[in-house]
Amino acid sequence: AAKSEGSSVATLPSAIGTKASSTLTILYGSQTGNAKGVAKSLADQATAQGLTVDLKSMGEFKPKSIKNVTHLLIVASTNGEGEAPDDAIAFHEFLSSKKAPKLESLQYSVLALGDTSYEFFCQTGKDFDEYLAKLGAKQIAPRVDCDVDYEDAAAAWSQEIISKTKELLGEADVTSNVVVMPTSGSTSQYTKQNPYEAELSVSQKITGRDSAKDVRHIEIDLGESGITYQAGDALGVWFENDVELVNELISALDFSANDEVTVGDEKYSLLDALTSKLEITQTSVNFVNFWAEQSQSQTLLTLVQDKNTVREYAANHQVVDVIKAAPAKVDVQIFVDALRKITPRLYSIASSQAEMEEEVHLTVGLVEYDKDGQIRAGGASSFLGKRLEEGGTVKVFVEHNDNFRLPSDGNTPVIMIGPGTGIAPFRAFLQEREANDAEGDNWLFFGDQTFTQDFLYQVEWQGYVKSGLLTKIDLAFSRDQANKIYVQDRLRENASEVFAWLERGAHLYICGDMNRMAKDVEIALTDIISEQGQLTAEQAQQYLKDLRNAKRFQKDVY
Ligand code: 2AM
Repeated sequence: AAKSEGSSVATLPSAIGTKASSTLTILYGSQTGNAKGVAKSLADQATAQGLTVDLKSMGEFKPKSIKNVTHLLIVASTNGEGEAPDDAIAFHEFLSSKKAPKLESLQYSVLALGDTSYEFFCQTGKDFDEYLAKLGAKQIAPRVDCDVDYEDAAAAWSQEIISKTKELLGEADVTSNVVVMPTSGSTSQYTKQNPYEAELSVSQKITGRDSAKDVRHIEIDLGESGITYQAGDALGVWFENDVELVNELISALDFSANDEVTVGDEKYSLLDALTSKLEITQTSVNFVNFWAEQSQSQTLLTLVQDKNTVREYAANHQVVDVIKAAPAKVDVQIFVDALRKITPRLYSIASSQAEMEEEVHLTVGLVEYDKDGQIRAGGASSFLGKRLEEGGTVKVFVEHNDNFRLPSDGNTPVIMIGPGTGIAPFRAFLQEREANDAEGDNWLFFGDQTFTQDFLYQVEWQGYVKSGLLTKIDLAFSRDQANKIYVQDRLRENASEVFAWLERGAHLYICGDMNRMAKDVEIALTDIISEQGQLTAEQAQQYLKDLRNAKRFQKDVY
């Protein structure tokens, strides 16, 4: 695993005439790696400016040692429903608990990463800011809340905060020629900003002809890139928007494809900017607000009055549909400035490198829906699954995810719950355990709509049952009978055995839909633990929490 260096926080006795501590502590709470990336680059810059930096994941930081910290920068992302990322949970809880010490000599600032399409936008960062302020800590600079295209805002905050911290710490030696040691734990030169142009070698529909869903098995060739990944990691995929959609948008706005526009600091034709630089298949709340203002449409102006309504509207409309609903003439550059920059999508990797070497596999569900007779599709999924042909190229990078890992001991049993495309990382887990001859028991819960159309990778699971790699598999096909059967129903049916596995040390994993499935599965697990362990509901919740803190309960949900 990529380990961040950094010794424990320096608590030197304060010598006369010097500051008590001149260490800048940078803590990150990161789920998919974005906050970690920002924190690392912040640490690199601060080091280059002569500051002494202690960079850590919140998961590696002892909450109690906060009382020894004098200068703290927090970079925290937020999970979908406003929860703290896994590595931040313990510290987050500690700061809001009665155990938290007074922090009157602490100076801090928070960079919050989030997504405006969620109700609890940047909640974790907001919480940290609030908790620290309540404990008496002083802000070095105000918190900054970033949307999914966080890069520019994060860079601006980093710059400001470093120069302010330098002033505070005073003695930072800016004249010395400090060699910057990149703190990146990545093993390859390819990153989000410098992706590898890989070849798509296989793109195959794996749902049946009569399925309500279109799920693709994708194989990408990493060639000579030297890119490495572990089971549990995600692949970042850059994509281009569909030219037909771009043209529909250009004509709806009465612009011309050749109009020159600026994105960032660079000039592009409008066609190029909309195809590969700007987000048009997802709409932000900010954009809907902008368009309500521009169009003066009564419908939109009413709709943006309510925070929840506008969020839901943004989630269900692509840019072109917002515009068509309320046509208006605007300046082309002003329009471009209102769009978000395109960001890559992360897909849980469905293969193990131990078995697939330079290949990386994905399980991609195509997102398609009908909007007033027009088919609208997801940007990245339609690029990967439909527009890109075998032999074509796609820009990719690996996003490491230390919050979703097989147990290091191959003898430890695992329970994997992954309905729909949530199956992807478990295919990687099983390949990995097979390649390593890991002897621990493996139990898979899979669910989907129908047995005949949607049993993803059916043949592989059957092979694994036969070979003994899969100790147990439980299936929930929701639409094969009158009443719905879901994975959580299968868990409940197996309550005593599920609990027995947990009691003998099993690790528990959930991957897939966050809004409904993961929540219901957690309720089922809590019920099972309470009933089988004869615990109260609170104790059962604590049991799950303890598993999570021990990294025995991990989620990859979206
Ligand atoms: P449904 O669409 O028939 O309701 C993968 O998408 C599977 O997850 C499908 O079988 C789907 O069933 C099911 N599913 C939908 N809502 C769910 C929930 N709240 N919990 C678990 N599975 C769910």
